[in-house]
Amino acid sequence: MHNLNIVILAAGMGSRMRSRLPKVLHPIGGKSMIAHVLHTAKALEPYCIVAVVGHGADTVQKALAGEPLQFALQNPPKGTGHAVQQALPFLQNAERTLVLYGDVPLVQLDTLQAFLQTTPPDCIGVMTCVVSDPTGYGRIVRNTDGTVAKIVEHRDASDEERRLQEINTGILLVPNALLHRYVSQLQAKNAQGEYYLTDIIAMAHNDGVCVQPFVCAREWEVAGVNTRAQQAQLERQWQLLQAQSLMDQGVSLLDPARFDLRGSLHCGEDVLIDIGCVFEGQVVLGDGVSVGAHCVLRNVTIAAGTQIQPFSHISDAQIGAYAQIGPFARVRPGTVLSDYCRIGNFVELKKATIGAHSKVNHLSYVGDAQVGERVNIGAGVITCNYDGIHKHITTIGNDAFIGSDVQLVAPVHVGDGATIGAGTTVWKSVPE
Ligand code: UD1
Ligand code: MG
Repeated sequence: MHNLNIVILAAGMGSRMRSRLPKVLHPIGGKSMIAHVLHTAKALEPYCIVAVVGHGADTVQKALAGEPLQFALQNPPKGTGHAVQQALPFLQNAERTLVLYGDVPLVQLDTLQAFLQTTPPDCIGVMTCVVSDPTGYGRIVRNTDGTVAKIVEHRDASDEERRLQEINTGILLVPNALLHRYVSQLQAKNAQGEYYLTDIIAMAHNDGVCVQPFVCAREWEVAGVNTRAQQAQLERQWQLLQAQSLMDQGVSLLDPARFDLRGSLHCGEDVLIDIGCVFEGQVVLGDGVSVGAHCVLRNVTIAAGTQIQPFSHISDAQIGAYAQIGPFARVRPGTVLSDYCRIGNFVELKKATIGAHSKVNHLSYVGDAQVGERVNIGAGVITCNYDGIHKHITTIGNDAFIGSDVQLVAPVHVGDGATIGAGTTVWKSVPE
C-alpha cells in the first residue's frame, strides 16, 4: 500500500505470561505471534516495517532474521507511547503510520484493508471492538454525538468507564505529522507511570482533529494475548479457522475441535482425518488418504489411498500409495516407503527405504537399511546398525524372507530370494 509505514510494538515484558521467552515469540499454531503479525503487515505492502523491541530484543531479532523489517530498540520499555517514540526516526516520510501489536496476532488482512480505506487521510483511525468481557483493555469513551473523546486504560478507569464494553484494540492509524506532534508530548501521569500511546486520542480530540473509530466485528481478530490462558483461547480459535478452511476444501475432519495444524497441510480429494491428530511442518496427503486417531505427522508426504492407523508417529518421511501404517508405528526421518508397504504395530523405521509390497508387521527396528520389493520381515527383527561408534547399512534383496527374531548385524547384505530362519544372528552376507 502506497504511503504507509507500519510499526509493530513488541518490546513489552509480557510479565503476565511468566515466561523466559519474550511474549511475542510465544506461538499460535506453531508460529510466533509476531510472525503472524509480520505476515499480515507484509501483505499490506507498506514502505517500511519497524518492530520496536526491548525485552528479549536479541532473541526477537534472531527469530526474525532475514525478514524485511527494521528494529527500533526500546530499553527499558516505558509504555506503548514511549515505544512509538523510539520508532519515529525509522519511519519513512510516508503519509500515515499503522500501529500493530506483536501480541494481537490474528488480525486479518481484509480487516486492516477496510480500516485503511475507510479512515480519511487527515483523521486518526482507532480500531475498536465491542466485547463481552472488557477487563484489562483500554475503554473507548465516546461523546454524546458518538465521536471518540479519549481512551482510558482499565487501571485508570472509573467504575462507570469500566462498564463500557467498547475496547481499544491497540490498532491505530495516524497521519505522520500528527504522530510526531502528539507522541513527543506524551506524559506518564497514570496508574502505571507509563507513556500511553492511547493518550494521543484525547490530545487530538481537544485540538479538533478528527478521530474516526472503526469497529471490528470479530472479537478474536483483535484479542490481545497477555496470559497463557488467552494464548490457549486464540490457539483454539486459530485451529478452528484452519479446520474450517480444510473442510471447505473437502477434507473430512471427524471433529474440527480436536484438530491441530502447526504448519501447512495440503490434501487431495476425500481425505479423512480422525480426532486428536497433530500436523507439523509441511504435510501433503494424497487422494483418499485416511489418518487414524491421535497420529503425529511432521514434514510428511503420503501418496493416494494410504491408511495411517491410530497412534502412529511419522516424521520427515515419504510414503507411497496404498500403504498401511500402524497402529503404533514410528517412522523416523529419512524413511522412504514404496507403494503397498505394510508397517505394523511397534515397528520403528529410521533412514530405511522399503520397496513395494514389502511388510514389516510386528515389533521390529529397521534402521539405515535398504529393503527390496515383496520382502517379508518377521516379528522382532532388528537391524543392528550401530557398533558403538559408527552406523552401518543393511541391504536386503527382493523377495527375501527374514524369519522372526532375526538380528542383522550391519554392515550386511541379504541376497534376493534368501530365507533366514527364525532366531538367526546374521553377521556375514547371505547369498541369493
Ligand atoms: C494495550 C493498550 C490498551 C488496549 C490493549 C489491547 C496502551 C496504553 N494500552 O494495553 O488500550 O486495550 O493494548 O490489547 O496502549 N509494548 C512495547 N513497549 C512498552 C509496552 C508495551 O513495545 O513499553 C508492546 C507490547 O510488547 C505489546 C503491546 O505493546 O505488544 C501492548 O502492550 P501491553 O503491555 O500488552 O498493553 P496492554 O496492557 O495490553
Ligand atoms: Mg496486551
